[in-house]
Amino acid sequence: MGKLYHNKSVRIHGNASIPGQGPLEFHRRLPDYNVTPLIFARKLAQRLGVARVWVKDESNRLGLPAFKILGASYAFYRTLMERTSFELEPWDTIEQLREKLTSLRPLTLVTATDGNHGRGVARVARLFWLHSKIFVPRGTVQARINAIESEGAEVIVVEGDYDEAVKAAANEQDRNTWLIQDTAWPGYETIPRWIVEGYSTMFWEVHEQLKALKKPEPDVIVVQIGVGSLAAAVVQFYRGQGSSPAPRIVGVEPERAACAFESVKAGHMVSIPGPQTSVMAGLNCGTLSIIAWPLIRDGIDVFVAVDDERAFEAMRLLAEDGIISGESGAAGLAGYLELSEHDTTGSIREKLGITESTRILLISTEGATDPEMYHRIVGTHPNLGSERN
Ligand SMILES: Cc1ncc(COP(=O)(O)O)c(C=O)c1O
Repeated sequence: MGKLYHNKSVRIHGNASIPGQGPLEFHRRLPDYNVTPLIFARKLAQRLGVARVWVKDESNRLGLPAFKILGASYAFYRTLMERTSFELEPWDTIEQLREKLTSLRPLTLVTATDGNHGRGVARVARLFWLHSKIFVPRGTVQARINAIESEGAEVIVVEGDYDEAVKAAANEQDRNTWLIQDTAWPGYETIPRWIVEGYSTMFWEVHEQLKALKKPEPDVIVVQIGVGSLAAAVVQFYRGQGSSPAPRIVGVEPERAACAFESVKAGHMVSIPGPQTSVMAGLNCGTLSIIAWPLIRDGIDVFVAVDDERAFEAMRLLAEDGIISGESGAAGLAGYLELSEHDTTGSIREKLGITESTRILLISTEGATDPEMYHRIVGTHPNLGSERN
C-alpha cells in the first residue's frame, strides 16, 4: 500500500533559478543527439480525467535507454573545463573535442550506480576514449551489468547497497581517476550540480515542443526521486525564480526507499536503511543528495510512495499509449495513480488545482532497461491480448 504526504511549506526557493541553455547547446553537439519525443498520452488523459497527459519519452537519449547521460556528459565537460587549462571552445564535432584531450590520457571516469547513470558515465568515457570503472550494489540485475560492460567499462559489484557503492566509488578518486557522481555530500557538490544542470536539456526541449504545438506549459509535473537530482532539475526549471506561473510538482519514490518523503515529513534529511530492493532500480536510494534536499523540501508539493505493483500497472498503462517505459521510468505515473486512489475526497487534487482542464507532464525516464522484466510485466497484460516482444 502506498502513502501520501502533502508538503504545506512549499515556496520558491531563493537559490533556484531557471538554468541557461548552456547544457542544451552542449548536448546538441554530441553524436546521436535528437530531441526526444513529447507524447500526448490520449488514453491516459481520459482515464485520469484531465485535458492532457504529456509524456517526455527518454527511452532513446543520445543512443542510450535513459535520460541519465544528459547529466554525466555535461558534468564531465564542465569538469574538463575546470580541471584543465585547455581551450575547449570552439568545437563542433566530438572528434575535435576528443583531440584536445590527448595529453590527459590515461584517464578513468569512476562512479556508483544502480544502472542508468553508470552506463551514461561509461558511454561518455567511451566517446572520449577514456577508461571507466563503475560500482554497482549487490543484487544489481545481470542485464544492467551487461549493459554497462557493453560500453567497455569495468564493473565492480559492491557487497552492500547503493550508498555503499557510492562510498566505494568515492574512495577511488585520484589525479587520473575522476569521480562523476550524481549525488552530493559535504565536500562533493560541484559535479552533482552540473549533473542537475545537464538534465535541464529535457525541459528546454519540452518548452520548445509545447511552443511549436502552440500549447501552454504543464500545470502539474510528476517526477520520480532517487537521490533527487532529477527532481532538483524540475524544481529549478519550473519553480525557479523567473518561471511563471509556477506549476505544481509531485515527487514519487518506492515505498522502501522513500528518503525524500521521510525527510520532508521530519523537516530534516533522513536516511532509509538498506538494502532497497524495489524493482524501480533507479530509485533505490536511501539518502538524498545534499544539493537536491533544499530544492525538494521547498519546491515539491506532494510526495507519494508506491509499491512495485503500482509501477507495473503504470508500465502497462503507458504501453497502451504506445510508450515503452521501464520500472523507474513509469514510476511518475505510478505515483499519480496512487495519489488519485488515496485522495478519495479529492482534497489533495483540489489543493493542487487539478481539474478536467489540467495538463500533466510525466517523464518516462527510461525505456525497457531490464528487457526480461519488461516482457514479463507488460507482455502478459490481458488488455494487450497477446505477448509482446
Ligand atoms: C530511470 C531513472 N529515473 C529516475 C531516476 C532518479 O533520478 P535521481 O537519482 O536524480 O533522483 C533514476 C536514477 O538513477 C533513473 O535511473
